[in-house]
Amino acid sequence: MATTEEMTGGRSAREVLADARGAVDPALRAAVDTLPESSRRIAAYHFGWRDEHGAPARADAGKAIRPALALLAAEAVGGTAERAVPAAVAVELVHNFSLLHDDVMDGDTTRRHRPTAWSVFGVGGAILVGDALLALAFDVVAASGHPAAHDGARRLSEAVQRLVDGQSADIAFEDRAEVGMAECRRMAEAKTGALLGCACALGASFGGGDAAQVAHLRAFGERLGLAFQIADDLLGIWGDPAATGKPVHSDLRNRKKSLPVAAALAAGTPPARELAELYRSGTELTGGEPARAAELVELAGGRAWAETQADLLLADALAELRAAGPPPGPEAELGGLARLATRRDH
Ligand code: IPE
Ligand code: IPE
Ligand code: MG
Ligand code: MG
Repeated sequence: MATTEEMTGGRSAREVLADARGAVDPALRAAVDTLPESSRRIAAYHFGWRDEHGAPARADAGKAIRPALALLAAEAVGGTAERAVPAAVAVELVHNFSLLHDDVMDGDTTRRHRPTAWSVFGVGGAILVGDALLALAFDVVAASGHPAAHDGARRLSEAVQRLVDGQSADIAFEDRAEVGMAECRRMAEAKTGALLGCACALGASFGGGDAAQVAHLRAFGERLGLAFQIADDLLGIWGDPAATGKPVHSDLRNRKKSLPVAAALAAGTPPARELAELYRSGTELTGGEPARAAELVELAGGRAWAETQADLLLADALAELRAAGPPPGPEAELGGLARLATRRDH
């Protein structure tokens, strides 16, 4: 049963996500069907529609957070979710492009409870299908014929450039001993906040929102995106792989400077110094080192700091949502979705 805080005006946040999945899937599948067979095969595996041999499957396709944001943002400005379907499909395609490449860069072999595309089809195949999905996202926006399509393509392009810049920083930080809190925050805002902000802005503009509404909804999505990334960082250290479908401790093994880790390193206490020492090794953490690093992040206060930040960002995000002046139903549903997305207990 959904908890009280997950309940929204009409639908629970889980129902909102399931409905978003249902609303975008036909258009998403139709778009992917236009790809050449070499890309389509790997994309169908990645989306959970087929197994590695090409047989039909019904595997985890992801939570559909970005499409849900786009559809609800359209309703938040008085438009219909239906008008925003191309926006929702486009942001989901960009998101999946980023995951396909991210798993190559992070060397992760599990996503959505299955082997990652690169580990099944090779690095080359995963990179190329990611490229194909990225281009397809722009095609979906252009083909919509929506009056907001031109602006939408530019918004999407800007978000992709920020995402790439954030991913670049994320990778660069692995080999840097010192990473400041401000630059670490900018990294997470760029790699994740930009696309969640874009999902909301694109949805709002496809829903016919005015400039001020679009700006507030973008700010809502950006703050939510940062809180969401912090929650994901916490789940990457203390989450249950059976629930997340992703490996635990991968970030620590790779010596990532995620925000909880950067906060711990900045504490200047004995656990912070021991963590810095572990991270200074110059190679991947092995054996019991990632588990020790997790303890040290907690002892140095990184976990508590991150949990507080995620809650503050969520409150900031909800204030931006309110400022957009949405009707009560979409406001409650977006709020419920934001709370679900920032939970750290699953
Ligand atoms: C994972 O995003 C990458 C991050 C930005 C943290 P999601 O957790 O939304 O991925 P799926 O689509 O639900 O698998
Ligand atoms: C999230 O990257 C941002 C993007 C994929 C652009 P992470 O590396 O933090 O996400 P997960 O934990 O692998 O999903
Ligand atoms: Mg990753
Ligand atoms: Mg990554």
